[in-house]
Amino acid sequence: MATLEDVLASIDANGQAALDRLFELVRIPSISAQAAHYPDCDRAADWLAAQLSELGFEARKELTEGRPMVLGAAKARTRDAPHVLFYGHYDVQPADPLDLWKTPPFEPRLEATARGERIVGRGAADDKGQLMTFLEACRAFKANGGLPCHVSVLLEGEEETGSPSLPAFLAKHAKALKADLLLVCDTNMWNADTPAITTMLRGLVFEEVVVRCASRDLHSGLYGGPAINPIRVLARILADLHDDKGAVTLPGFYDGVEDMPEEIATQWRELDFDPTKFLGDIGLSVPAGENGRSVLEMLWSRPTCEFNGVVGGYIGQGAKTVLPAQASAKVSFRLVGRQDPARIQQSFRSFVKARLPADVKVEFLGHDGSPAIGLPARGEALRRARRALEEEWGAPAAVIGSGGSIPVVGAFKRELGMDSLMVGFGLDDDAIHSPNEKYERRSFHKGARSWARILTALSQ
Ligand code: BES
Ligand code: MN
Repeated sequence: MATLEDVLASIDANGQAALDRLFELVRIPSISAQAAHYPDCDRAADWLAAQLSELGFEARKELTEGRPMVLGAAKARTRDAPHVLFYGHYDVQPADPLDLWKTPPFEPRLEATARGERIVGRGAADDKGQLMTFLEACRAFKANGGLPCHVSVLLEGEEETGSPSLPAFLAKHAKALKADLLLVCDTNMWNADTPAITTMLRGLVFEEVVVRCASRDLHSGLYGGPAINPIRVLARILADLHDDKGAVTLPGFYDGVEDMPEEIATQWRELDFDPTKFLGDIGLSVPAGENGRSVLEMLWSRPTCEFNGVVGGYIGQGAKTVLPAQASAKVSFRLVGRQDPARIQQSFRSFVKARLPADVKVEFLGHDGSPAIGLPARGEALRRARRALEEEWGAPAAVIGSGGSIPVVGAFKRELGMDSLMVGFGLDDDAIHSPNEKYERRSFHKGARSWARILTALSQ
C-alpha cells in the first residue's frame, strides 16, 4: 500500500512534466473579459476536461450562458472517505498594458532569480498555476494507489468578471456539487516561507459610468466656454467620492461595516506585518486610505472605492485641442461585513445622477457584485490543514484575511450551505493582474506537496 511519502516522492520526481503541463495551459489566452477571447476560454475548458479525464476523473465541459464550466469527479480508494469539492478558475485578467511585459504574456518562460526559478506569464499564478498545483497532487495520488478523499472538481471561466453564471449553475447542479467541504486554491501565502489559510475576503461592486454631453467632439476654442466638457463633469464626480480623511462619501456606504470580532483582531495582531516594507516593496511610503486605520485594516476589514480606468478625449501622441463628447470611468468598491452590493450600486448611481449639470446624460454598465465573506476561524478542517501545512513548510500557517474577492466562496455558502478552506501559494509580489505576473516554482512544487498532505489529513 502506497504511503504519503510515496505520493510526495512522486511529486518530487515529476517536476519537469508538471511544468510542461502548466506552460501548455498558460499558452491559452483565456481572457474572460474580452469577447475576442471567448473561443480561447472554450479551449482552456476542453484542455482541462482532458487533463481531468487523464487523471481518472469522470469529467465534462458544461455550457452556461457565459463561459463553460468544467466538472470532474473521482472516487477515493476507500468508500467511506470524506468528499471534497475543489474550485479553481481557468480565466485570466486582460494582459494590458502589453508594452510593460518583458516577454509576451502568453508565452510562459522560466526566469532564474536569487530566490529560485519563477514561472512568468499571465495566469502563471492566478489561477492556472494554483489550480494545477492541486491537480498535480491528484496526479501523484493516482500513480500511488488512488485518492484519500472523494474529489469533485469545478473549474470556472468567469471568475475575473464576477462569476455571472455561477449562481444559476450551482442551483442547477446542486446535487452533483454538494460535498463536505469546498477547497479553493486562489489565495496567497503570508510570506515566501509562511503558508496561510485565508478566512476573510472582501466583496466587490463594479460599475462603468459613461457621461455624454455634446452630439459630437468639438474644437475646444470654437466651442470651449459655452459647451460643457464631460471630463470636467466626470472628474468632479469622481473627486467627490472621497472626503479629506480618505472616507467614501456615498450615502449609506458604511451600513453593515462592522468592527472585527476580538478573536480575529487578536489573530491579526499576532502576525508580524511591517506596513513600511509592504508599501516600500511597491515604491510607496505613506498609507493613502482612511485616516486612523492600520494598513492591514485598510486591506482586510475596511471597504474602499477605487477607480480602475478613466477614458475621455484625445489620448494619442502630441496635442489635440478637442472638447470631447463623452468620458467614462470604471469604478469598483471592495466590500466588508454585511455591506449590500445592490444597495451600494444604487447609491452610486443616485450619487452620480444628482451631480449632472444640464445637457449631460449618463449611462451605467453594471457587473455582478458579491458580498464580503467571513469563514469560521476555527474548526476541524482548518485545524487539520494548518497542521499539514506546518509539516510541509516547517512554520505554522498564518490565519489571515485578504483584500481580494472570490465570489464562489459566498455562493457555495448561500446556495449549498458549504464552508470553504482557502489555501493558496501565491505571494504578494506575484504581480497578479499586472504585467510580468509570475508564480514561484517553489510554490508550485511545495504547494502540490501541501495539498497531498492536506487531502491525507482530511481523510484521517
Ligand atoms: N485570486 C484572486 C483574488 C485573490 C488574490 C484573493 C490573492 C486573495 C489573495 C481572484 O482571481 C481575483 O482577482 N478576483 C477578482 C474578482 C472580481 C472580478 C469579482 C478581484 O478580486 O478583483
Ligand atoms: Mn484568482
